Amino acid sequence: MKFRDPGAVVPGWPRPTEGTWTEHYCDLGTEPISFEDSVSAEFYELEREAIFKRAWLNVGRIEDLPRRGSYFTKEISIARASVVVARGLDDEIRAFHNICRHRGNKLVWDEEPRAETAGFCRQFMCKYHGWRYDLEGALVFIQQEEEFFGVNKDEYGLAPVHCEVWNGFVFVNLDAEPRQTLREFLGPMVTALDGYPFGALTERYDFVADNNSNWKLFADAFQEYYHVPALHPQQIPSAVRSPEMAIECAHFQLDGPHRLVTTGGQRRWDLPPEYMYPIERTTRSGLVGPWETPDLGPLPSGLNPGGVEPWGITNLQIFPNLEILVYGGWYLLYRYWPTSPATHRFEASLGFHPARTARERIEHEVAAVVFKEFALQDAGTLGGTQAALQTGVVDRFPLNDQEILVRHFHKVVGEWVGTYRAHRSEARA
Ligand code: FES
Ligand SMILES: [Fe+2]
Repeated sequence: MKFRDPGAVVPGWPRPTEGTWTEHYCDLGTEPISFEDSVSAEFYELEREAIFKRAWLNVGRIEDLPRRGSYFTKEISIARASVVVARGLDDEIRAFHNICRHRGNKLVWDEEPRAETAGFCRQFMCKYHGWRYDLEGALVFIQQEEEFFGVNKDEYGLAPVHCEVWNGFVFVNLDAEPRQTLREFLGPMVTALDGYPFGALTERYDFVADNNSNWKLFADAFQEYYHVPALHPQQIPSAVRSPEMAIECAHFQLDGPHRLVTTGGQRRWDLPPEYMYPIERTTRSGLVGPWETPDLGPLPSGLNPGGVEPWGITNLQIFPNLEILVYGGWYLLYRYWPTSPATHRFEASLGFHPARTARERIEHEVAAVVFKEFALQDAGTLGGTQAALQTGVVDRFPLNDQEILVRHFHKVVGEWVGTYRAHRSEARA
């Protein structure tokens, strides 16, 4: 693995030379935490306004809009929004509220109004009375326009949604006036991955699952590796790692509301049979992806800000609900979309370079299938955790140093909700 100019690791981010990560980021505290934020219906209502109508939200990749006229819709139920994202004839990517300006019909949908859709068109036509909008959102046609009372088409374009793109990731912001540009919001730790070639990894495998827990509980499962020995025992024997050690969190970093962890060490491939499925050996692929991936050239130093060697995985959690795991030559992406206090929709994508041979295609397929098995192991705990938390019997939970990102996540969510509450009370006073 080659990192670009390893001497230029983004300066200024501390790592502990002694003590624990959690104490190093001292405002986190070390006290047990509450998960009331994951069971309370009232808190969920606050998250709508405080987080999902204010933060930048990743809704897709530019590969989802491959040419002029491409579009997709995104249902963001917690923000009570449906959004259309389109690549205009001028190649610009824009987002709009998915609502017709005539009488409020949902504008873009296929067979089922609540289902997301994607496609290619020159104009959007409302299914109700046939008003038409161009890809830039302008109202361009009113059926029997002469019957109206001086409607000026210029005043009835689609309601725009703020939309910006970072390294091919398309984000929207539902705030009337976002407080920060996308780049400001992402901050230096995330934008240090500017040079990672996500755009070259266009062979995608996408999955969606409706899970029976609060959205934050599944995010928690992917921001610590402490659960790996118990929940994924195939991954843990030190014999499967090089150097011989369990999956080790070698570097944690926090930047504003965002989090990063890099693991050290890599999986060995010359394993005895009990540590690997036969298909993994046959296809030379598995949970951590193909055994070999093409050289993508020098990688940005921001991918490994702790300078960990041998480097394993960089796991980046972009607030509030996006996670990107970079494995060097391929990546995994998760999004957690809240659908009720106790449910969420989980989206996962694996991105590989386009297969050049049948063997490479099979390597990607196997990686995707094995990933699903492991994600199911994680998802299998969710309903039980949600139900147990909802009993309210226990409300203080100790977190260890390996769980620092869980602690940070719930703290940041609490802070965003707290700030919103304070502004709301000021406005009412
Ligand atoms: S509601 Fe869309 S054209 Fe009437
Ligand atoms: Fe897991």
